[in-house]
Order: sequence, then C-alpha cells, then structure tokens
Amino acid sequence: MQFESHNVVFEGWYPFGHGDATLMAEPVFTRLAQKYGKTNAQVIMRWHIQEGNVVFPKTLNPAHMADNIDVFDFELTADEMAEINALPQRAYYNVPEEAPAFVLVQNDYSQQA
Ligand SMILES: NC(=O)c1ccc[n+]([C@@H]2O[C@H](COP(=O)([O-])OP(=O)(O)OC[C@H]3O[C@@H](n4cnc5c(N)ncnc54)[C@H](OP(=O)(O)O)[C@@H]3O)[C@@H](O)[C@H]2O)c1
Repeated sequence: MQFESHNVVFEGWYPFGHGDATLMAEPVFTRLAQKYGKTNAQVIMRWHIQEGNVVFPKTLNPAHMADNIDVFDFELTADEMAEINALPQRAYYNVPEEAPAFVLVQNDYSQQA
C-alpha cells in the first residue's frame, strides 16, 4: 500500500512480527544483511528509519537491543528500499500456540468494574 507521506507519521509497534521467523528470514533481508555486514533485523530497522517511521522493537536480549539501535552507519539504496516495499503485503505475525500467561491476565477484563 502506498501513502502520501505529507503530514503522516507511521508507527511500527511490532516491526519483527513478534519475532516471525518467515519475516526475519526473508531472502531480501538476508542478502542485504550480508552486503552491509548487518543482521536481518538491522535491515528491517533501517528500512523503517529510511521510511521515516517511528519504530518500537522489543527484545529481552541485550545484544539484540544494541543491534536494534546500531543502524545509523549504513544506508539502503533507493532500489533496495523499493525491493523491500515490493514484498508481498501479507501478515507476518508470530502467534504462539498458547498465549503467555501475562497476556491472558492483561487481556482479562472480566474483573473490571
Ligand atoms: N504489538 C502491539 O500491538 C503493541 C501494542 C502496544 C505496545 N507494543 C509494544 O511494542 C513493542 C513491540 O514488541 P512485540 O513483541 O510486539 O514485537 P516485535 O518487536 O516485532 O518482536 C519481538 C521479537 O523479535 C525478537 N527480536 C528483537 N530484536 C531482535 C534482533 N535484533 N534480532 C533477532 N530477533 C530480535 C525478539 O526476541 P528476543 O527477545 O530474543 O530478542 C522477540 O521475539 C513492545 O515493547 C510492546 O510492548 C506493542
């Protein structure tokens, strides 16, 4: 989907599809990661930054935390940005078979007054 970017800010609240393995392993990310000496996740982060998106990655891994901010020393070309933008617009969404307990608790509004 293409949007006019004037006066519009997009926010990416789960840039890695909650850790979706298919998204993370998309061949285009793997190829660009090898080209720039980065990780697939860093290519995803960099794409967001160059799009002008505000992006909120989550990680519990300190090394991933450092990686996710270390995306300001390389730049994707216009062709590479276009290639990523041309990826099929399908849902990348890692849904665990069983939701973690904290999710069930947080989404349980039955006790709410
Ligand atoms: N999704 C929503 O609707 C929503 C709504 C409100 C707020 N938020 C907030 O937005 C943030 C988004 O987090 P999210 O979990 O929904 O989705 P996410 O950021 O798309 O995915 C998180 C997953 O990506 C993995 N990951 C992160 N950095 C990585 C890296 N550099 N390399 C490889 N794997 C990496 C994490 O694993 P590791 O921990 O192993 O790195 C984790 O499994 C959270 O802070 C969340 O609270 C989300």
